[in-house]
Amino acid sequence: MEIFEQVLSQLKVHAEGIASRSYSPYTGRKEAVVIMLEDGALVGGVRVENASFQLTIPPILNAITTSYALQRKDFSIIVSTVPFTEAELAYTSALGSYQWELVSPRILVVAGAHHPDPTMFLPVSFPSDIQNASDGANCAREAAKAAFIPESNFPVGCAITTTKGQVVQGVNVEHPDWSQIICAERNALSTIITYGLGDVTDVYVSCPKLPGGTPCGACRQVIVELAPKATVWMDLDDENPQAMKATELLPGHFTGDILKRP
Ligand code: THU
Repeated sequence: MEIFEQVLSQLKVHAEGIASRSYSPYTGRKEAVVIMLEDGALVGGVRVENASFQLTIPPILNAITTSYALQRKDFSIIVSTVPFTEAELAYTSALGSYQWELVSPRILVVAGAHHPDPTMFLPVSFPSDIQNASDGANCAREAAKAAFIPESNFPVGCAITTTKGQVVQGVNVEHPDWSQIICAERNALSTIITYGLGDVTDVYVSCPKLPGGTPCGACRQVIVELAPKATVWMDLDDENPQAMKATELLPGHFTGDILKRP
């Protein structure tokens, strides 16, 4: 493992560099992971908490689902700023056919993968060319093509625009443990937090097999907390997308404000 020391220390620096972007109003815990892919490209993930604590997205889930949305599954090394939990190790080991080796409490290596020098973070967003709701719905529909859906064969895509003029796409990423499945909307939102891409303006959701499909309850809770001013657009296929405000999707939602640290 000596040959990796240089690589590992660079990855650690990268993970520590993004940890401060965590959304942790309830605990203050700033945690991140960096995934290195087989060509040295990097994907990050930070901790994203939620007022409904159970919906909190751990850094590793955030980073892995971002990689899947980018159609990159060629994991090489994952380095975390904090020790991986049992649940996180269980998540990774059941995800696919990777041969993970836990070489230290904060470092997971895929045996047999290439471990080159780290290069740069992969771009996760692009300047928005969305002119109208139908462009947004198309972008979400396009995203859905990358959905990882071994459990349901039900693709969902999401495209989110931000105040920085960026678009981020998300897909649903499934897992044999259904409680660990991340929807397209939460995938895109947690990517926006990790990369500091601005406040959310519009959320476009497309369920290509179910035009008019709307965000699930878990996503509504996360959307209303992270993007309270957003307009959420549901792809209706041939017709114009249907719009609802985030707050209309979850009337009387639990804000968690009373739980936030001063
Ligand atoms: N799904 C989403 O991605 N977003 C939603 O709002 C509804 C549900 C995904 C989760 C799971 O992979 C599949 O669709 C079936 O629920």
